[in-house]
Amino acid sequence: MRTIESLGSLSEHTVIVRCDLNVPLADGVIADDGRIRASLTTIRELREAGAKIVLISHLGRPKGTPEERYSLRPVAARMAELLGAPVQFVAETVGEAATAAVAALTPGDIVLLENLRFNVGETSKDDAERGAFAAQLAAFGDLFVSDGFGVVHRRQASVYDLAQLLPSAAGRLVAAELEVLQRLTETPERPYTVVLGGSKVSDKLGVISHLIERVDTILVGGGMLFTFLAAQGHAVGASLLEADQLDTVRGYLATAAERGVTIVLPTDVVVAEAFAADAAHEVVAADAIESSSFGASGLGLDIGPDSAAVFAEVIAGSRTVFWNGPMGVFEMDAFAGGTRTVAQALADTNGFTVVGGGDSAAAVRALGFADDRFGHISTGGGASLEFLEGKALPGLEVLA
Ligand code: 3PG
Repeated sequence: MRTIESLGSLSEHTVIVRCDLNVPLADGVIADDGRIRASLTTIRELREAGAKIVLISHLGRPKGTPEERYSLRPVAARMAELLGAPVQFVAETVGEAATAAVAALTPGDIVLLENLRFNVGETSKDDAERGAFAAQLAAFGDLFVSDGFGVVHRRQASVYDLAQLLPSAAGRLVAAELEVLQRLTETPERPYTVVLGGSKVSDKLGVISHLIERVDTILVGGGMLFTFLAAQGHAVGASLLEADQLDTVRGYLATAAERGVTIVLPTDVVVAEAFAADAAHEVVAADAIESSSFGASGLGLDIGPDSAAVFAEVIAGSRTVFWNGPMGVFEMDAFAGGTRTVAQALADTNGFTVVGGGDSAAAVRALGFADDRFGHISTGGGASLEFLEGKALPGLEVLA
Protein backbone atom coordinates (compact mmCIF):
# COMPACT_ATOMS: atom_id res chain seq x y z
CA MET A 1 0.00 0.00 0.00
CA ARG A 2 1.46 3.36 -1.01
CA THR A 3 1.53 5.79 1.91
CA ILE A 4 1.77 9.58 1.95
CA GLU A 5 5.60 9.44 1.89
CA SER A 6 5.44 8.05 -1.64
CA LEU A 7 3.98 11.34 -2.87
CA GLY A 8 7.18 13.27 -2.16
CA SER A 9 7.09 16.91 -1.05
CA LEU A 10 3.58 18.19 -0.47
CA SER A 11 4.50 21.82 -0.06
CA GLU A 12 2.54 24.08 -2.43
CA HIS A 13 0.82 21.03 -3.94
CA THR A 14 -2.96 20.82 -4.07
CA VAL A 15 -3.93 17.53 -2.48
CA ILE A 16 -7.40 16.07 -2.91
CA VAL A 17 -8.35 14.00 0.15
CA ARG A 18 -11.22 11.51 -0.04
CA CYS A 19 -12.61 11.24 3.50
CA ASP A 20 -15.61 9.34 4.82
CA LEU A 21 -17.46 12.16 6.56
CA ASN A 22 -20.74 10.21 6.41
CA VAL A 23 -21.85 11.04 9.96
CA PRO A 24 -25.31 10.46 11.44
CA LEU A 25 -27.36 13.69 11.40
CA ALA A 26 -30.51 14.32 13.41
CA ASP A 27 -32.31 17.50 12.29
CA GLY A 28 -29.08 18.87 10.88
CA VAL A 29 -27.17 18.18 14.11
CA ILE A 30 -24.25 15.73 14.05
CA ALA A 31 -25.14 12.85 16.38
CA ASP A 32 -21.67 11.25 16.33
CA ASP A 33 -18.60 13.08 15.03
CA GLY A 34 -16.30 10.03 15.23
CA ARG A 35 -15.63 9.94 11.51
CA ILE A 36 -14.72 13.64 11.43
CA ARG A 37 -12.29 13.16 14.33
CA ALA A 38 -10.80 10.11 12.66
CA SER A 39 -10.05 12.18 9.52
CA LEU A 40 -8.05 14.85 11.33
CA THR A 41 -4.66 13.12 11.56
CA THR A 42 -4.12 13.14 7.82
CA ILE A 43 -5.53 16.65 7.37
CA ARG A 44 -3.28 18.07 10.11
CA GLU A 45 -0.25 16.39 8.61
CA LEU A 46 -0.99 17.75 5.14
CA ARG A 47 -1.50 21.25 6.54
CA GLU A 48 1.78 21.13 8.39
CA ALA A 49 3.50 20.00 5.20
CA GLY A 50 2.22 23.13 3.44
CA ALA A 51 -0.33 21.48 1.16
CA LYS A 52 -3.48 23.13 -0.17
CA ILE A 53 -6.24 20.74 0.83
CA VAL A 54 -9.41 19.85 -1.06
CA LEU A 55 -11.65 17.55 0.98
CA ILE A 56 -14.28 15.40 -0.72
CA SER A 57 -16.83 13.02 0.84
CA HIS A 58 -20.28 11.55 0.56
CA LEU A 59 -23.00 11.76 3.20
CA GLY A 60 -25.96 9.42 3.20
CA ARG A 61 -27.37 7.96 0.03
CA PRO A 62 -28.79 10.76 -2.14
CA LYS A 63 -29.53 9.59 -5.66
CA GLY A 64 -27.40 11.87 -7.83
CA THR A 65 -29.17 15.18 -7.16
CA PRO A 66 -28.76 17.74 -4.37
CA GLU A 67 -30.89 17.30 -1.24
CA GLU A 68 -30.39 19.76 1.58
CA ARG A 69 -30.70 17.11 4.30
CA TYR A 70 -27.58 15.41 2.95
CA SER A 71 -25.48 18.57 2.75
CA LEU A 72 -21.95 18.44 4.20
CA ARG A 73 -22.26 22.03 5.45
CA PRO A 74 -22.64 21.05 9.15
CA VAL A 75 -19.62 18.78 8.79
CA ALA A 76 -17.42 21.68 7.61
CA ALA A 77 -18.43 23.70 10.67
CA ARG A 78 -17.68 20.84 13.08
CA MET A 79 -14.38 20.06 11.41
CA ALA A 80 -13.29 23.70 11.71
CA GLU A 81 -14.08 23.59 15.45
CA LEU A 82 -12.13 20.39 15.96
CA LEU A 83 -9.15 21.55 13.89
CA GLY A 84 -9.12 25.07 15.26
CA ALA A 85 -8.70 26.29 11.68
CA PRO A 86 -11.08 27.52 8.99
CA VAL A 87 -12.68 24.93 6.71
CA GLN A 88 -14.30 26.67 3.78
CA PHE A 89 -17.46 24.96 2.55
CA VAL A 90 -18.46 25.11 -1.13
CA ALA A 91 -22.12 24.38 -1.89
CA GLU A 92 -21.35 22.38 -5.03
CA THR A 93 -19.02 19.47 -5.76
CA VAL A 94 -17.87 20.55 -9.21
CA GLY A 95 -18.56 23.75 -11.14
CA GLU A 96 -17.45 27.38 -11.20
CA ALA A 97 -17.71 28.05 -7.48
CA ALA A 98 -15.73 24.93 -6.62
CA THR A 99 -13.09 25.73 -9.24
CA ALA A 100 -12.73 29.31 -7.96
CA ALA A 101 -12.48 28.20 -4.32
CA VAL A 102 -9.77 25.67 -5.13
CA ALA A 103 -7.84 28.19 -7.27
CA ALA A 104 -7.82 30.65 -4.36
CA LEU A 105 -6.26 28.19 -1.87
CA THR A 106 -2.92 29.05 -0.29
CA PRO A 107 -0.71 26.51 1.57
CA GLY A 108 -2.47 25.20 4.68
CA ASP A 109 -5.95 26.24 3.49
CA ILE A 110 -8.78 23.71 3.52
CA VAL A 111 -11.88 23.57 1.40
CA LEU A 112 -14.66 20.98 1.70
CA LEU A 113 -16.72 20.42 -1.44
CA GLU A 114 -20.41 19.47 -1.30
CA ASN A 115 -21.60 15.84 -1.16
CA LEU A 116 -20.10 13.75 -3.97
CA ARG A 117 -23.33 11.77 -4.31
CA PHE A 118 -25.23 14.86 -5.48
CA ASN A 119 -23.63 13.90 -8.82
CA VAL A 120 -24.76 10.81 -10.75
CA GLY A 121 -21.21 10.07 -11.86
CA GLU A 122 -20.04 9.25 -8.33
CA THR A 123 -21.91 5.97 -7.93
CA SER A 124 -22.62 5.21 -11.59
CA LYS A 125 -22.20 1.60 -12.73
CA ASP A 126 -21.16 2.96 -16.12
CA ASP A 127 -17.36 3.17 -16.28
CA ALA A 128 -17.39 6.12 -18.70
CA GLU A 129 -19.83 8.15 -16.61
CA ARG A 130 -17.86 7.47 -13.44
CA GLY A 131 -14.59 8.19 -15.21
CA ALA A 132 -15.85 11.53 -16.51
CA PHE A 133 -16.84 12.62 -13.00
CA ALA A 134 -13.50 11.43 -11.60
CA ALA A 135 -11.73 13.52 -14.26
CA GLN A 136 -13.66 16.62 -13.13
CA LEU A 137 -12.52 15.93 -9.56
CA ALA A 138 -8.93 15.24 -10.63
CA ALA A 139 -8.75 18.71 -12.20
CA PHE A 140 -8.89 20.18 -8.68
CA GLY A 141 -5.49 18.93 -7.58
CA ASP A 142 -2.22 17.30 -8.47
CA LEU A 143 -2.07 14.60 -5.77
CA PHE A 144 -4.70 12.29 -4.27
CA VAL A 145 -4.89 10.86 -0.75
CA SER A 146 -7.49 8.18 -0.11
CA ASP A 147 -8.49 8.28 3.54
CA GLY A 148 -12.18 7.35 3.57
CA PHE A 149 -11.78 3.87 5.00
CA GLY A 150 -15.55 3.43 5.38
CA VAL A 151 -15.97 3.60 1.63
CA VAL A 152 -13.00 1.60 0.27
CA HIS A 153 -15.31 -1.31 -0.55
CA ARG A 154 -17.14 0.87 -3.09
CA ARG A 155 -16.07 1.00 -6.74
CA GLN A 156 -17.02 4.67 -6.96
CA ALA A 157 -15.56 7.62 -8.85
CA SER A 158 -13.90 9.35 -5.89
CA VAL A 159 -12.63 6.10 -4.39
CA TYR A 160 -11.56 3.98 -7.33
CA ASP A 161 -11.35 5.99 -10.58
CA LEU A 162 -9.83 9.17 -9.15
CA ALA A 163 -6.99 7.20 -7.54
CA GLN A 164 -5.92 6.13 -11.03
CA LEU A 165 -5.88 9.63 -12.48
CA LEU A 166 -3.40 11.26 -10.06
CA PRO A 167 -0.37 10.13 -8.05
CA SER A 168 -2.22 8.58 -5.12
CA ALA A 169 -1.62 7.09 -1.67
CA ALA A 170 -3.44 5.84 1.39
CA GLY A 171 -3.97 8.37 4.17
CA ARG A 172 -3.17 7.73 7.82
CA LEU A 173 -6.67 6.54 8.72
CA VAL A 174 -6.78 3.96 5.96
CA ALA A 175 -3.30 2.76 6.95
CA ALA A 176 -4.25 2.53 10.65
CA GLU A 177 -7.50 0.68 9.96
CA LEU A 178 -5.69 -1.80 7.75
CA GLU A 179 -3.05 -2.49 10.35
CA VAL A 180 -5.72 -3.41 12.90
CA LEU A 181 -7.81 -5.50 10.54
CA GLN A 182 -4.74 -7.36 9.33
CA ARG A 183 -3.96 -8.19 12.96
CA LEU A 184 -7.45 -9.72 13.18
CA THR A 185 -7.11 -11.75 10.02
CA GLU A 186 -3.47 -12.78 10.15
CA THR A 187 -2.30 -13.10 13.74
CA PRO A 188 -5.22 -13.02 16.18
CA GLU A 189 -4.33 -14.06 19.71
CA ARG A 190 -6.65 -16.81 20.93
CA PRO A 191 -9.27 -17.33 22.19
CA TYR A 192 -10.76 -15.17 19.42
CA THR A 193 -14.40 -14.18 19.89
CA VAL A 194 -16.65 -12.38 17.46
CA VAL A 195 -19.80 -10.65 18.68
CA LEU A 196 -22.36 -10.16 15.92
CA GLY A 197 -25.55 -8.18 16.17
CA GLY A 198 -27.56 -5.74 14.11
CA SER A 199 -30.86 -6.35 12.51
CA LYS A 200 -30.28 -8.62 9.53
CA VAL A 201 -28.45 -11.89 9.22
CA SER A 202 -28.53 -11.38 5.43
CA ASP A 203 -26.08 -8.44 5.85
CA LYS A 204 -23.61 -10.70 7.62
CA LEU A 205 -23.70 -13.90 5.55
CA GLY A 206 -20.26 -13.47 4.02
CA VAL A 207 -18.60 -12.57 7.27
CA ILE A 208 -20.20 -15.41 9.21
CA SER A 209 -19.20 -18.09 6.73
CA HIS A 210 -15.66 -16.70 6.59
CA LEU A 211 -15.26 -16.33 10.35
CA ILE A 212 -16.66 -19.76 11.17
CA GLU A 213 -13.41 -21.11 9.78
CA ARG A 214 -11.20 -18.80 11.81
CA VAL A 215 -12.56 -17.93 15.25
CA ASP A 216 -13.20 -19.84 18.48
CA THR A 217 -16.57 -18.41 19.50
CA ILE A 218 -19.35 -16.40 17.86
CA LEU A 219 -21.84 -14.62 20.12
CA VAL A 220 -25.09 -13.78 18.34
CA GLY A 221 -27.39 -10.93 19.42
CA GLY A 222 -29.43 -8.17 17.78
CA GLY A 223 -32.34 -8.72 15.44
CA MET A 224 -30.49 -11.50 13.64
CA LEU A 225 -30.65 -13.79 16.67
CA PHE A 226 -34.32 -14.54 15.98
CA THR A 227 -33.49 -16.14 12.65
CA PHE A 228 -31.01 -18.36 14.53
CA LEU A 229 -33.67 -19.26 17.14
CA ALA A 230 -36.21 -20.00 14.42
CA ALA A 231 -33.62 -22.16 12.63
CA GLN A 232 -33.48 -24.25 15.80
CA GLY A 233 -37.25 -24.66 15.64
CA HIS A 234 -38.33 -22.05 18.20
CA ALA A 235 -41.30 -19.70 17.70
CA VAL A 236 -40.17 -16.06 17.78
CA GLY A 237 -43.50 -14.20 17.95
CA ALA A 238 -43.47 -11.02 15.86
CA SER A 239 -39.69 -10.59 16.18
CA LEU A 240 -37.58 -9.84 13.13
CA LEU A 241 -37.27 -13.05 11.13
CA GLU A 242 -35.67 -13.64 7.76
CA ALA A 243 -37.48 -16.80 6.72
CA ASP A 244 -35.45 -17.07 3.50
CA GLN A 245 -32.24 -17.41 5.52
CA LEU A 246 -33.30 -20.31 7.73
CA ASP A 247 -31.51 -22.96 5.69
CA THR A 248 -28.36 -20.89 5.49
CA VAL A 249 -28.37 -20.39 9.24
CA ARG A 250 -28.91 -24.13 9.81
CA GLY A 251 -25.86 -24.65 7.59
CA TYR A 252 -23.81 -22.31 9.81
CA LEU A 253 -24.87 -24.14 12.94
CA ALA A 254 -23.86 -27.46 11.38
CA THR A 255 -20.49 -26.15 10.10
CA ALA A 256 -19.71 -24.60 13.47
CA ALA A 257 -20.46 -27.91 15.21
CA GLU A 258 -18.20 -29.79 12.77
CA ARG A 259 -15.33 -27.36 13.23
CA GLY A 260 -15.59 -27.07 17.00
CA VAL A 261 -16.55 -23.40 16.83
CA THR A 262 -18.99 -22.40 19.54
CA ILE A 263 -21.97 -20.31 18.44
CA VAL A 264 -23.54 -18.89 21.58
CA LEU A 265 -27.20 -17.91 21.25
CA PRO A 266 -29.04 -16.01 23.96
CA THR A 267 -30.98 -18.07 26.50
CA ASP A 268 -33.23 -15.16 27.40
CA VAL A 269 -34.57 -12.14 25.53
CA VAL A 270 -36.43 -8.92 26.27
CA VAL A 271 -39.82 -9.09 24.58
CA ALA A 272 -41.96 -5.96 24.10
CA GLU A 273 -45.58 -5.29 23.27
CA ALA A 274 -44.62 -2.79 20.55
CA PHE A 275 -41.60 -1.11 18.96
CA ALA A 276 -41.62 1.94 21.23
CA ALA A 277 -39.42 3.33 23.98
CA ASP A 278 -42.24 3.13 26.54
CA ALA A 279 -43.68 -0.24 25.42
CA ALA A 280 -44.53 -2.83 28.09
CA HIS A 281 -41.80 -5.51 28.12
CA GLU A 282 -40.74 -8.72 29.86
CA VAL A 283 -37.74 -11.00 30.01
CA VAL A 284 -38.56 -14.52 28.80
CA ALA A 285 -36.65 -17.66 27.89
CA ALA A 286 -35.38 -17.51 24.31
CA ASP A 287 -37.02 -20.84 23.50
CA ALA A 288 -40.39 -19.68 24.84
CA ILE A 289 -40.82 -16.19 23.38
CA GLU A 290 -44.54 -16.65 22.79
CA SER A 291 -45.05 -17.45 26.48
CA SER A 292 -44.78 -13.72 27.29
CA SER A 293 -47.98 -11.78 28.07
CA PHE A 294 -47.89 -10.53 24.47
CA GLY A 295 -48.17 -14.02 22.97
CA ALA A 296 -47.44 -14.32 19.27
CA SER A 297 -47.40 -10.53 18.84
CA GLY A 298 -44.44 -10.04 21.23
CA LEU A 299 -41.34 -8.44 19.69
CA GLY A 300 -37.86 -9.38 20.83
CA LEU A 301 -35.91 -6.13 21.17
CA ASP A 302 -32.82 -7.05 23.21
CA ILE A 303 -30.91 -10.00 24.60
CA GLY A 304 -31.84 -10.77 28.21
CA PRO A 305 -29.67 -10.16 31.30
CA ASP A 306 -28.61 -13.80 31.74
CA SER A 307 -27.43 -13.98 28.14
CA ALA A 308 -25.65 -10.62 28.45
CA ALA A 309 -23.82 -11.97 31.52
CA VAL A 310 -22.77 -15.11 29.61
CA PHE A 311 -21.58 -12.99 26.66
CA ALA A 312 -19.60 -10.80 29.09
CA GLU A 313 -17.94 -13.86 30.61
CA VAL A 314 -16.88 -15.18 27.20
CA ILE A 315 -15.52 -11.74 26.26
CA ALA A 316 -13.60 -11.52 29.56
CA GLY A 317 -11.86 -14.81 28.76
CA SER A 318 -10.92 -13.81 25.18
CA ARG A 319 -7.60 -12.44 23.94
CA THR A 320 -9.14 -10.97 20.76
CA VAL A 321 -12.69 -9.67 20.33
CA PHE A 322 -14.28 -8.18 17.22
CA TRP A 323 -17.73 -6.67 17.71
CA ASN A 324 -20.10 -5.64 14.94
CA GLY A 325 -23.73 -4.71 15.50
CA PRO A 326 -25.72 -3.74 18.58
CA MET A 327 -27.36 -6.44 20.75
CA GLY A 328 -30.73 -4.70 20.82
CA VAL A 329 -32.51 -1.43 20.15
CA PHE A 330 -29.92 0.52 22.16
CA GLU A 331 -31.46 3.87 21.19
CA MET A 332 -34.33 3.05 23.58
CA ASP A 333 -33.17 2.76 27.18
CA ALA A 334 -35.42 -0.23 27.99
CA PHE A 335 -33.68 -2.24 25.26
CA ALA A 336 -30.10 -0.99 25.68
CA GLY A 337 -29.08 -3.38 28.47
CA GLY A 338 -27.51 -6.08 26.28
CA THR A 339 -25.49 -3.60 24.22
CA ARG A 340 -24.35 -1.81 27.39
CA THR A 341 -23.19 -5.05 29.05
CA VAL A 342 -21.30 -6.16 25.95
CA ALA A 343 -19.69 -2.72 25.59
CA GLN A 344 -18.68 -2.78 29.26
CA ALA A 345 -17.20 -6.27 28.87
CA LEU A 346 -15.14 -5.14 25.89
CA ALA A 347 -14.02 -2.04 27.78
CA ASP A 348 -12.94 -4.15 30.78
CA THR A 349 -11.16 -7.02 29.08
CA ASN A 350 -7.38 -7.16 28.78
CA GLY A 351 -7.68 -8.68 25.32
CA PHE A 352 -7.39 -6.74 22.05
CA THR A 353 -10.82 -5.33 21.16
CA VAL A 354 -12.10 -3.93 17.90
CA VAL A 355 -15.49 -2.29 17.49
CA GLY A 356 -16.45 -2.27 13.83
CA GLY A 357 -19.32 -0.63 12.08
CA GLY A 358 -21.05 2.71 12.27
CA ASP A 359 -23.89 1.42 14.46
CA SER A 360 -21.68 -0.24 17.04
CA ALA A 361 -19.40 2.78 17.18
CA ALA A 362 -22.37 5.10 17.62
CA ALA A 363 -23.78 2.73 20.26
CA VAL A 364 -20.68 2.72 22.46
CA ARG A 365 -20.41 6.49 22.30
CA ALA A 366 -24.15 7.02 22.89
CA LEU A 367 -23.88 4.79 25.96
CA GLY A 368 -21.10 6.98 27.31
CA PHE A 369 -17.98 4.86 26.65
CA ALA A 370 -14.86 6.79 25.69
CA ASP A 371 -13.10 5.66 22.49
CA ASP A 372 -9.91 4.84 24.41
CA ARG A 373 -11.67 2.04 26.34
CA PHE A 374 -11.38 -0.06 23.18
CA GLY A 375 -8.36 -1.26 21.24
CA HIS A 376 -9.75 0.25 18.06
CA ILE A 377 -13.06 1.67 16.87
CA SER A 378 -13.26 1.18 13.14
CA THR A 379 -14.85 3.89 11.00
CA GLY A 380 -15.86 1.22 8.50
CA GLY A 381 -19.08 -0.74 8.66
CA GLY A 382 -19.45 -2.59 5.38
CA ALA A 383 -15.77 -1.97 4.61
CA SER A 384 -14.46 -3.68 7.74
CA LEU A 385 -16.87 -6.60 7.30
CA GLU A 386 -15.84 -7.09 3.68
CA PHE A 387 -12.19 -6.93 4.68
CA LEU A 388 -12.75 -9.62 7.31
CA GLU A 389 -14.60 -11.67 4.71
CA GLY A 390 -11.38 -11.70 2.74
CA LYS A 391 -12.84 -9.80 -0.21
CA ALA A 392 -10.71 -7.62 -2.45
CA LEU A 393 -11.66 -4.00 -1.81
CA PRO A 394 -11.47 -1.81 -4.96
CA GLY A 395 -10.45 1.32 -3.05
CA LEU A 396 -7.46 -0.49 -1.55
CA GLU A 397 -6.47 -2.39 -4.65
CA VAL A 398 -5.89 0.86 -6.56
CA LEU A 399 -3.44 2.01 -3.89
CA ALA A 400 -1.27 -1.11 -4.04
C1 3PG B 1 -20.78 3.67 5.67
O1 3PG B 1 -21.55 4.37 6.34
O2 3PG B 1 -20.62 2.45 5.91
C2 3PG B 1 -19.94 4.32 4.63
O3 3PG B 1 -19.96 5.70 4.73
C3 3PG B 1 -20.33 3.85 3.26
O4 3PG B 1 -21.62 4.29 2.96
P1 3PG B 1 -22.50 3.50 1.87
O5 3PG B 1 -22.83 2.16 2.49
O6 3PG B 1 -23.72 4.37 1.65
O7 3PG B 1 -21.67 3.34 0.64
